[in-house]
Amino acid sequence: VVDALTEADLEELRGLGRVVLVALMGTGTSSLSPVALVRATLAAAELLDKAAVVAVPLPAHGDAEADHALGAQVVRTYAGDDPVHALADRGAGRAQDLPAAIAAIVDADQPAPEEQGLVLFFTGLSGSGKSTLARALMDLLLEQGGRTVTSLDGDVVRRHLSAGLTFSKADRETNIRRIGWVAAEIARHGGVAVCSPIAPFAETREQVQDMVEAAGGAFFLVHVATPLEECERRDRKGLYAKARAGEIPEFTGISSPYEEPVDPAVRVDTTGRSIEDALDDVLVALDEAGYLHLRGTDG
Ligand code: ADX
Repeated sequence: VVDALTEADLEELRGLGRVVLVALMGTGTSSLSPVALVRATLAAAELLDKAAVVAVPLPAHGDAEADHALGAQVVRTYAGDDPVHALADRGAGRAQDLPAAIAAIVDADQPAPEEQGLVLFFTGLSGSGKSTLARALMDLLLEQGGRTVTSLDGDVVRRHLSAGLTFSKADRETNIRRIGWVAAEIARHGGVAVCSPIAPFAETREQVQDMVEAAGGAFFLVHVATPLEECERRDRKGLYAKARAGEIPEFTGISSPYEEPVDPAVRVDTTGRSIEDALDDVLVALDEAGYLHLRGTDG
């Protein structure tokens, strides 16, 4: 079993008598999450007479043919001398033929965009305006209500979750992966996580995206693209001056790289713009993507 079973599948199985349903669950194996696949298979067993369920963790490896062969091998090995029955391939139209109990599990597993867990990830240089935009966005979300909202701001995370880490490449990657892990768990439970670290490395940002999507969440990357000259001109924390003077080593933009996102969901330069105005670019993009509808809530 690699998908929710339909009425036609159940009818086919009833003809076999006593069955063991082997659910091959794992990232990429099924369009359902592993948990939903097991729940849907247990629900199917309830609808059959004398059916047992065995869940086998079996992630896909990116090669459909090899994955299929591996799945078949696992089932054959499990069955031993008992006959193995492969369900007929019913292709499209499956969704219309699901028993109500199974359809409910499938629906809950694939929430509409506005109910899906969401990770809003602001990346950009120190002083680019990430935290300010993130906070303004959180205020709107909290005013609107209806969603849980968690902030994972760069500076705050470094005081708690990542206390003790340095600004070496390895420690920055660890820092961002921790943020990604927490954000993915928040998304798994349908919440909104608003992250605002520098996150200078493309590869680590992609790892975060993978973690979030594997948890069933949506990942929305905002590049706060305020140029270095403007960040340095603002120098709110006085850190750029110190970095230029050589007092802070490995400072992002000065003596440590920032890899610009190639394909962010939205890019905002805050130079010469009010927070409301810059934030509106983000709200428009979120609205168009269908994840959040926050425009106009402030009048
Ligand atoms: S990240 O690179 O690991 O993503 P993070 O967002 O957590 O960085 O922390 C960045 C903040 O730490 C900056 O806003 C700044 O206040 C402070 N900071 C201290 N040292 C550095 C440094 N060497 N490079 C960048 N930011 C630094």
